[in-house]
Amino acid sequence: MSTTPVSDRPVPRPGVLAIEAYVPGKAQAGGGVKVYKLSANENPLGASARAREAFHAADALEFYPDGSSTRLREAIGAAYGLDPARLVCGTGSDELITLIAAAYAGPGDEVIYSQYGFLVYRIATLAAGATPVIAAERDLTTDVDALLAAVTAKTRIVFLANPNNPTGTYLPFDEVRRLQRGLPPHVLLVLDAAYAEYVRRNDYESGIELVATTRNVAMLRTFSKIHGLAALRVGWLYGPAEVVDAVNRIRGAFNVNAAAIAAATAAINDTAHVEAAVAHNDRWLAWMAAELTALGLVVTPSVANFVLVHFPDANGKRAPDADAFLSARGLILRRMDAYGLPGALRLTIGTEEANRLLVAVLAEFLGKEPKGEAGHGA
Ligand SMILES: Cc1ncc(COP(=O)(O)O)c(C=O)c1O
Repeated sequence: MSTTPVSDRPVPRPGVLAIEAYVPGKAQAGGGVKVYKLSANENPLGASARAREAFHAADALEFYPDGSSTRLREAIGAAYGLDPARLVCGTGSDELITLIAAAYAGPGDEVIYSQYGFLVYRIATLAAGATPVIAAERDLTTDVDALLAAVTAKTRIVFLANPNNPTGTYLPFDEVRRLQRGLPPHVLLVLDAAYAEYVRRNDYESGIELVATTRNVAMLRTFSKIHGLAALRVGWLYGPAEVVDAVNRIRGAFNVNAAAIAAATAAINDTAHVEAAVAHNDRWLAWMAAELTALGLVVTPSVANFVLVHFPDANGKRAPDADAFLSARGLILRRMDAYGLPGALRLTIGTEEANRLLVAVLAEFLGKEPKGEAGHGA
């Protein structure tokens, strides 16, 4: 059979080359200085001792893992009161985002997310061959009206990170419910609650209730943040049976590895470690916001384990200047250029040592005195 060649070499399908590859947070500074990595929203307390023990014990390396992550789904189900049959585990929630896009959107379809929404939504959408549609935000916060106004006959998915990364802002439950009610029933609303455990607001709900009471909502969670298991790549989805079925059909047969299953199962049962991580974040998130504000920086109010901080538009004081100054002293923050926020840096709440050093170095950078003991001992 002879076919006319369309190109003299293999060509990826449309959309793939439009992807700007995701650039992870830097992990290194200039030579010789101690590094404080505050660029990827990792847990400053690390993983629970029980999770690390389970990780080390999972050393039967010759065997394939349980392709259904059964133990882990049962442990998550028990912890949250969910039916394990309605859960899918993934290689990080990143993988689940990609699988949802692949299962529900393709060429000619549209996928909506908000202006400063998590960058992986764009990558997953383009990788699926679908078209990204961006809804403007208000005050660096998702605008439900803008999301609903962006819906067309071609819309298949709406991705919403709540709280959102990188802004740290969130939508209260009644707004999320208004969004769900305004969507056509065939549009899948994906509530990405990667930072849910950190949120201390009475009007917040991660998504469990909406998944349980509707047919077009899926919720994503991760072990990378509060559980401190980012290296192992484990996330999970709670969704309608049909969504679970679709994702299970296209995922890798052994997508979550054995060590990850073992460690995550131990982690979800170590509630004391989770509580310690939440308490640490509560204390230092408030302290950090107060200290940075006292230095004259503009801080977007955050409910997560990171803060978006805006630098002055003045010579030598801009975000890239601050980034260079901090990096030279071992403090690695996240540049926000890829999100269209070049005047801001995002910082993860770190250990006490890292937090205090960061504020002291920023005070030096700005030529100011640190506020000092704000919230000390709080
Ligand atoms: C909003 C959001 N969703 C998902 C993820 C991905 O998490 P995971 O490590 O589970 O792939 C992140 C990680 O930064 C995130 O910020």
